[in-house]
Amino acid sequence: MENLWLIVLIFSTFFSIFLILYRNYLRFSPVCFNIRSSKHRRLSLPSGTLGWPFLGETIEFVSCAYSDCPESFVNKRRRRYGKVFKSHIFGSPTIVSTDAEVSKFVLQSDSKAFVPSYPKSLTELMGKSSILLINGSLQRRIHGLIGAFFKSPHLKAQITRDMQKYVQESMENWRDELPIFIQDETKSIAFQVLVKVLIRLDPGEDMEILKKQFQEFIAGLMSIPINIPGSRLYRSLQAKKKMVKLVQKIIQDKKESGISNVPKDVVDVLLNDTSEQLTDDLIADNMIDMMIPGEDSVPLLMTLAIKYLSDSPTALQQLTKENKELKTLKDQLGEPLCWSDYLSLPFTQNVITETLRMGNIIIGVMRKAMKDVEIKGYLIPKGWCVFTYFRSVHLDENNFDMPYDFNPWRWQDKDMSSCNFTPFGGGQRLCPGLDLARLEASIFLHHFVTQFSWVAEDDTIVNFPTVRMKRRMPIWVKRKRND
Ligand code: HEM
Repeated sequence: MENLWLIVLIFSTFFSIFLILYRNYLRFSPVCFNIRSSKHRRLSLPSGTLGWPFLGETIEFVSCAYSDCPESFVNKRRRRYGKVFKSHIFGSPTIVSTDAEVSKFVLQSDSKAFVPSYPKSLTELMGKSSILLINGSLQRRIHGLIGAFFKSPHLKAQITRDMQKYVQESMENWRDELPIFIQDETKSIAFQVLVKVLIRLDPGEDMEILKKQFQEFIAGLMSIPINIPGSRLYRSLQAKKKMVKLVQKIIQDKKESGISNVPKDVVDVLLNDTSEQLTDDLIADNMIDMMIPGEDSVPLLMTLAIKYLSDSPTALQQLTKENKELKTLKDQLGEPLCWSDYLSLPFTQNVITETLRMGNIIIGVMRKAMKDVEIKGYLIPKGWCVFTYFRSVHLDENNFDMPYDFNPWRWQDKDMSSCNFTPFGGGQRLCPGLDLARLEASIFLHHFVTQFSWVAEDDTIVNFPTVRMKRRMPIWVKRKRND
């Protein structure tokens, strides 16, 4: 008898769960979304399938993302349903856009239409006040303040000095009898540069502690969102707490000694703001979040450039020639290279642009619709996510001839500002660090190709959950003679 009750209980629990899932599934299914717009036109969802209840198509998305051709999930559906289609990934019904115009519209919309959407582990670690998650006037204010600071010639000059110093220090230790792991070297250099920009911390004991805690912190960004002692997320949150403490101490010291009117780092910029919206906690939290590109995106830009150049001797030859000529000229004039020198090299910039196109360091961005939105005749229902998938646009043969070939020359007469090329996003949240990323990559490439020749070991690009080299890009270097 007891067993019978148990069976009835288990059965009814499963049945209730199934009903809830199925009701949710129906709520988001196409039949329920033939709604009328204010103009009384019938709007329907883009074609596509939602896959399994709850799981959706996440498993197929992830298995493609780990493969050599991560865009295959999207491209297969794009061929079947068109450039904009519906799916269900990462626990949410999602409209995937590979249509550059639709994506542009989404990115340019304000927070009344779309807000950022990230996996739960990431939002837990970032915290509510992270610039990546906040909306409206506060996001615009912080974005504007840091964007203006990053554009200032004064900061670019400082970054150039620091970058040259850290690059030289790193390269001095390179020997020809041991492999150099480009991904590790660039991570270390770019992290130091960005930490200096953010909180004016120089390499030393505190930097080493920060680096260690930061590793612990980012390990949890794509983890299972369970925050209990011992879990990955818990350890990452603990690491973040320690880093926030360090930044809060820096803020306190600055306040005690008087904040400089001429900002020397991002903390100064935010402390100088008079709006009183920017609390010390908000500033400290954001400094940690903004270290992510220093550890991740920028080093990957440099690493991938070396990867593509290793496979493209003609491009490498032209890049080396351009940089050697600049170096010789500057040596003759007895002048050091300044930031505008680095950015003035057209072929070097084309190499960086082409690396951004092929590398797709950020494959796309996720937003959540705050209301029903109509774009180009498509309906994006309230509560659904939109995934603007840049990778397929960047690798589309209709936009770029032979898209899988590394061809920096394609950018010679091409307009970079087209909506077919969005490695730094666009609209309200266009990456404020884009100039810095290009500058750092230009400086690294200059010093690398003018001082070394190299042979790269076999390695492959892994694209999920973040872009990286499987073996950290080992190369064997040979120092060039000074002639
Ligand atoms: C190769 C290097 C980089 C790439 C590919 C990249 C890409 C992106 C993209 C695609 C976005 C838009 C995210 C969205 O729309 O939700 C973004 C935002 C952002 N990036 Fe970058 N980024 C890079 C380097 C940097 C650097 C060096 C910094 C300096 C701290 C930086 C700081 C930020 C910030 C603060 C945002 C958020 C802006 C906002 O939401 O208002 N990024 N980045």
